[in-house]
Amino acid sequence: MKISVVGTGYVGLVTGVSLAEMGQNVTCIDIDTAKINKLKQGISPIYEPQIEEMMHKNLAAQRLTFSLDQDVNYNDFDLIYLAVGTPENPDGSADLTYINTTVNRITQDLQHATIVVTKSTVPVGTNAKIKALLNQNGAYTVEVVSNPEFLREGSAVHDVFHADRLILGSDSQAAMAVVEAVNAPYKTTVIKTTFASAELIKYASNAFLATKISFVNEIANICEATGANIQAVSQGMGLDTRIGNKFLKAGIGYGGSCFPKDTAALLQIAQQNRIDFPILEATIKTNQQQQLHLVERLMQYYPDLTGKKIAILGAAFKPGTDDIREAPALRIIQTLLEKGARVAVYDPIALDNVREIFGEAIEYCLKIETALEACEAALIATEWSSIQKLNAVTIKNKMRRPLILDGRAALLSLAELNDIEYAVVGQKG
Ligand code: UDX
Repeated sequence: MKISVVGTGYVGLVTGVSLAEMGQNVTCIDIDTAKINKLKQGISPIYEPQIEEMMHKNLAAQRLTFSLDQDVNYNDFDLIYLAVGTPENPDGSADLTYINTTVNRITQDLQHATIVVTKSTVPVGTNAKIKALLNQNGAYTVEVVSNPEFLREGSAVHDVFHADRLILGSDSQAAMAVVEAVNAPYKTTVIKTTFASAELIKYASNAFLATKISFVNEIANICEATGANIQAVSQGMGLDTRIGNKFLKAGIGYGGSCFPKDTAALLQIAQQNRIDFPILEATIKTNQQQQLHLVERLMQYYPDLTGKKIAILGAAFKPGTDDIREAPALRIIQTLLEKGARVAVYDPIALDNVREIFGEAIEYCLKIETALEACEAALIATEWSSIQKLNAVTIKNKMRRPLILDGRAALLSLAELNDIEYAVVGQKG
């Protein structure tokens, strides 16, 4: 099959490369010339384990090519995947500009029937609209299949090959059968449903996981107040198979490109349909508060932070990625600066992205030791393995005051915790 994937962001690139890996003939398309030029050379614009090796292999085998949108004819493909971004509008709804321009662009070329597969996360009702747009001239039928993506950054390639389920939504059984056949090597449970249900499965899944995190973070706050221990509590809860042990790790809240955006978009969908969604509102509010939880605890030690050097260990929204979108570390740094503190941030791969936001206002450290040097406290915002390897000797030698506030339970297994001042989310300090 000849397949095109429009959009070479996280979802598009990983989808395209994985389909090529499965033996399909894939063209990944974008409007960004610099990005396409890099991709042609085998350089990935995203940091993602395995992706470049897989790109090199499939480029060499000529199963994978990269093209500028203006250089392709969409007539040439049996399947066209839409994987363009749907960023957040100021009111929280999803911005469908890229979806609309791509669909218009495809209709300009198309002269025969084909199948368009939507990977982008789009509000309920969008795939039906996409289908109507694609079939405006009525000379042939373009089928549309909603195929939401559930991959996680940092383990995206692994997730594609080990997906829990394949969700297909369409009003055409034949089109869903084609997409199912393309994905057959993935071997997973296939759910075939309508456009609307497939669209909602994606939002409901992300919102549910975000709610699980906010719930456990509220329980963590109760633990801090009552002397209970969140590690014990979430372990005890997670052993109940009805609850499950995943996404029960308390900390300083979720970030990233999906949970904040998708929870806001689902809330918008509810509001547009005049449906109250208080649980989701609380999930979002709790997460915003939780991102600043460490700052509140820090201020119990230092009511006045003016001139104090504070180290931030980890900036990425989670380990294994250089993505800092909606990362708790950003709000922590911003708040500390507003309170007059001096900030030194350590991250193994995300520093360039942080520099774009804070410029000369803070210090950037490629070594943890440099960030810790003569600081009054260190706040752990990401559980990078390099941070988990910290030891009490380094902490005591480098820091002016060996005070660690751990937002990701990264140092819990450190043997010499009694030698330092240590407080972790979900336990009394
Ligand atoms: C998420 C979904 O998992 C994925 O299915 C969807 O396609 C995109 O959104 P991702 O954003 O890559 O993936 O990250 P994920 O690993 O899910 O973590 C999201 C955030 O939640 C991170 O900031 C992480 O630190 C936080 N988190 C996760 C917790 O605070 N506690 C947990 O128990 C799990």
